[in-house]
Amino acid sequence: MNDKAGQPERLAPGDLGETITPLREFVAAVTRLVERTRDEPAIVAEARPLLATLVAEDGWLPGPYTVPDPKFYCQYLLHCDPLERFSVVSFVWGPGQATPVHDHMVWGMIGVLRGAEKCQRFRRGPDGRWSEDGAEHLLARGEVDVVSPTLGDVHRVANAHQDRVSISIHVYGANIGAVSRHVYAPGSGEVKPFVSGYSSAALPNLWDRSSRVRKSIQGQQ
Ligand SMILES: [Fe+2]
Repeated sequence: MNDKAGQPERLAPGDLGETITPLREFVAAVTRLVERTRDEPAIVAEARPLLATLVAEDGWLPGPYTVPDPKFYCQYLLHCDPLERFSVVSFVWGPGQATPVHDHMVWGMIGVLRGAEKCQRFRRGPDGRWSEDGAEHLLARGEVDVVSPTLGDVHRVANAHQDRVSISIHVYGANIGAVSRHVYAPGSGEVKPFVSGYSSAALPNLWDRSSRVRKSIQGQQ
């Protein structure tokens, strides 16, 4: 976007103060984890409580990554590992919005930050048709769910609320927006290719820690 003089607009300063610290610390912890091991059960076992800690407290997610769309659920990228070993995404669900039945092709974790979600797993029967696998379960605020090709990878997720926004923080074992995935038609064997992409080209600034440094300098004077 350009201003009237044809010059690019300057972005607003990115200093979020200490607000975004929980997300930065989560990203650092998962980076250390995937550096140490690529074993899926080990990663999930260690990352699950980290995600539970992240979603236990609200207030750190910057406003632009909480905005719903009237028609579609949103998936805002919050961070992608430079080697694409994991990504962190804010899912924002408008009232009653739901995904299609889909897979992930990599491990994934879902932590509910606001509101609640309904999750329904699916499985393919001997006739090749996809049908519901067990009962739908509710994921309440603060709870974490796990999906993966080894644990069960096909599900449908929906906002449990018809009158308000829900937000969940998802972590995946890849740059999930660029993974070649699939959507499924329940009741049939139909499978279609699916690449989710992201809802925004911008990411939150995790790295402007200048306010803390300024305070420490002032403390030395
Ligand atoms: Fe999913």
